Amino acid sequence: MGVFSLLILLFAVFAVSADEDAFIGVNIGTDLSDMPNPTQVVALLKAQQIRHVRLYDADRAMLLALANSGIHVTISVPNNELLGVGQSNATAANWVARNVAAHVPATNITGIAVGSEVLTILPNAAPVLVSALKFIQSALVASNLDDQIKVSTPHSSSIILDSFPPSQAFFNRSWDPVMVPLLKFLQTTGSPPLLNVYPYYDYMQSNDVIPLDYALFRPLPPNKEAVDSNTLLHYSNVFYAVVDAAYFAMAYLNFTNIPIVVLETGWPSKGDPSEPDATIENANTYNSNLIRHVLNSTGTPKHPGIAVSTYIYELYNEDTKPGPLSEKNWGLFDANGLPVYIMRLTGSGLILANDTTNQTFCTAKDGSDPKMLQAALDWACGPGKVDCSALKQGQPCYEPDNVVAHASYAFDAYYHLMGMAPGTCYFNGVAAISTTDPSHSSCLFPGSGGRNGTFLNSTTLAPSSNSTASGSIPLLYRVNVRSFLVIGGLFWSAVFL
Ligand SMILES: *[C@@H]1O[C@H](CO)[C@@H](O)[C@H](O)[C@H]1NC(C)=O
Ligand SMILES: *[C@@H]1O[C@H](CO)[C@@H](O)[C@H](O)[C@H]1NC(C)=O
Ligand SMILES: *[C@@H]1O[C@H](CO)[C@@H](O)[C@H](O)[C@H]1NC(C)=O
Ligand SMILES: *[C@@H]1O[C@H](CO)[C@@H](O)[C@H](O)[C@H]1NC(C)=O
Ligand SMILES: *[C@@H]1O[C@H](CO)[C@@H](O)[C@H](O)[C@H]1NC(C)=O
Ligand SMILES: *[C@@H]1O[C@H](CO)[C@@H](O)[C@H](O)[C@H]1NC(C)=O
Ligand SMILES: *[C@@H]1O[C@H](CO)[C@@H](O)[C@H](O)[C@H]1NC(C)=O
Ligand SMILES: *[C@@H]1O[C@H](CO)[C@@H](O)[C@H](O)[C@H]1NC(C)=O
Ligand SMILES: *[C@@H]1O[C@H](CO)[C@@H](O)[C@H](O)[C@H]1NC(C)=O
Ligand SMILES: *[C@@H]1O[C@H](CO)[C@@H](O)[C@H](O)[C@H]1NC(C)=O
Repeated sequence: MGVFSLLILLFAVFAVSADEDAFIGVNIGTDLSDMPNPTQVVALLKAQQIRHVRLYDADRAMLLALANSGIHVTISVPNNELLGVGQSNATAANWVARNVAAHVPATNITGIAVGSEVLTILPNAAPVLVSALKFIQSALVASNLDDQIKVSTPHSSSIILDSFPPSQAFFNRSWDPVMVPLLKFLQTTGSPPLLNVYPYYDYMQSNDVIPLDYALFRPLPPNKEAVDSNTLLHYSNVFYAVVDAAYFAMAYLNFTNIPIVVLETGWPSKGDPSEPDATIENANTYNSNLIRHVLNSTGTPKHPGIAVSTYIYELYNEDTKPGPLSEKNWGLFDANGLPVYIMRLTGSGLILANDTTNQTFCTAKDGSDPKMLQAALDWACGPGKVDCSALKQGQPCYEPDNVVAHASYAFDAYYHLMGMAPGTCYFNGVAAISTTDPSHSSCLFPGSGGRNGTFLNSTTLAPSSNSTASGSIPLLYRVNVRSFLVIGGLFWSAVFL
C-alpha cells in the first residue's frame, strides 16, 4: 500500500471515529453455576437492545446464536491459546478459519481481542504478543476480512505509570519493546488500543486520596476537580483521567490520534465487609453515569469530541468466580436475566432499557434494622406525603401487621409518587428496588398492574389532605417523635441533596 493510500485510510479511520456515535457494549463472562444457554443470552441482549458484545473466547454455540442478530461481536483469543497463536502462523490461520471465517458474515464479528492483559497477567507470553496480532491479521487479510475485523489486545491500566497528572503519564518502560511495535501495528491497521479501566480499584487502592464522588462521576465542586497543572485541563472523574493518561503515554512514544476503546469497566454491586463501597447504589451510579457520558460523545478533556466507546463489565454476575465477594458481583443481570439494579438512563436513548418488566417496586431491604424501618415508614406517611390509609386496621394492606410489610408498602408508594425518580428508593439504605410485585390478596402495591393488568390510578398516591408540608405525622403509628425528627432530617438530605 502506498503512503498516499495509507494516509487516506488513516484519515478515513479518524474521520469516522470522530463523527461516529460512541457505543456502549457489554462483556459476557460465563463463570456462572447456571449459565443461561446461548439462545437465552441473545434473547436478553435483544430485549435490552445491547448491540455490541465482547466474548472471552470464540464459543461456537454462542457465535451461532448471535448469527443474524444485528449484534456486533468482539471475540477473544484466550490467554491459554496465545502462545500457540503467537508462535505459529499456521496455528493462527487455523484459529481464524475455525472461529472467524466459519461464522462471518452471518455473525457480525467486528473485533478480535488477542489475549487479555498479557503484560500484567501473562508476562512470559509478552514476547510473542505482537507476532500473535500480526499472524491473526495476515490470516484475516488472506480471507479478505481485515477491513471489517480489527485486531488488538486489551491492557490493564496498571501499565500506565505516574498516571496523575495525565500529562506526565507513561507506559512502564520495561514494556517499550512490546508497546512500540504494538502501537505501530494498531496505527497501520486502523485498530483501536484497548484499555481496561477500573476506577473501583483505583479508588480502593488510593487510601482515600481519590474521593468516591470522583470515581463515580458524581458532580464535584469546581474547586475539588482535579486539574492537570501542565495542561490546565480539568478532570471531573477517574475514568477520563485514566483514558487521557493512556493518550499521553502513547504520545510520549510519538503515537497520536489513535482513538482508544475501553474494553472493560464497571463497578461491583456487592462485596465483603472489607469492600463497603461495592454497593448496588454505587454500581448503579457508576454505570448509569458512565453510559450517559459515553453516549454523550463529549470525549475526554485531552480529546474532546473523540468518542470513547466502552464495554461494561459485565452482563451477568459470575457466581463461580474465585476471590472476594465483589468478584462475583460485577453483573448487570442475574442468571435469570433479571436486572441486579434498574439503571437510571432516562434521556440516554434506547440502549440498555431499564425496564425489562416495565414494573419496579421499592420495598424494605431484608435484614434491615426494624427501628430504621419504623422511622422511615413514619417519614413516608408523614412528611413524605404518602397516603398510608391502606395500612390502617381493616384496610387491604393492614395484614401482615408488621413493620417490614408496612414499610414496604409505604416505600413503594413514595417511590411511585415520585415517578420512580433516581434516589427515591433509598430511605437511608433500608429500601431497595425490586422487580417482584409484592402485592398480595387484595393489597395492591402502587405500580402493580394488578390481576387484570391495569395500573393503579395514580391519584390514589396523591398526598392525603391530612398530611401537610409542615411534617405532621398521621396517628397511624406509635411514634417516637424525637428519633423521627433526627432520622427524618437525614432522609431529607439523603433524598434531596
Ligand atoms: C456489521 O457491522 C458493521 C458495522 O456496524 C455494518 O456496517 C455491517 O453492515 C454489519 N454486517 C452485517 C452482516 O450485519
Ligand atoms: C502467514 O500466513 C499467511 C496466510 O495465512 C500469509 O499470507 C503470510 O505471509 C504469513 N506470514 C508470515 C509472517 O509468515
Ligand atoms: C514495570 O514492569 C516490570 C516488568 O513487569 C515490573 O517488574 C515492574 O515492577 C514495573 N514497574 C512498576 C513501577 O510497576
Ligand atoms: C519522538 O519524536 C521526537 C521528535 O521527533 C524524538 O526526538 C523522540 O526521540 C521520539 N521518541 C520516541 C520514543 O520515538
Ligand atoms: C452532554 O453534552 C452537553 C453538550 O455537549 C453538555 O452540556 C452536557 O453537560 C453533557 N452531559 C453529560 C452528562 O456530560
Ligand atoms: C427508565 O426509567 C425511567 C423512570 O422510570 C423511565 O422514564 C424510562 O422510560 C425508562 N427507560 C429508559 C430506557 O430510560
Ligand atoms: C413495556 O411497555 C411498553 C410500552 O408501554 C410495551 O410496548 C412493552 O411491551 C412493555 N414491556 C413489557 C415487558 O411488558
Ligand atoms: C380490573 O379492571 C377494572 C377496570 O377495567 C377495574 O375497575 C378493577 O379495579 C381492576 N381490578 C384490579 C384487581 O385491578
Ligand atoms: C384517576 O382518577 C381520577 C379521579 O378519580 C380521574 O379523573 C382520572 O381520569 C383517573 N385516571 C385514570 C388513568 O384512570
Ligand atoms: C382526614 O381527617 C378527617 C378528620 O379530620 C378524617 O375523617 C379523614 O378520614 C382523614 N383522611 C385520611 C385519608 O386519613
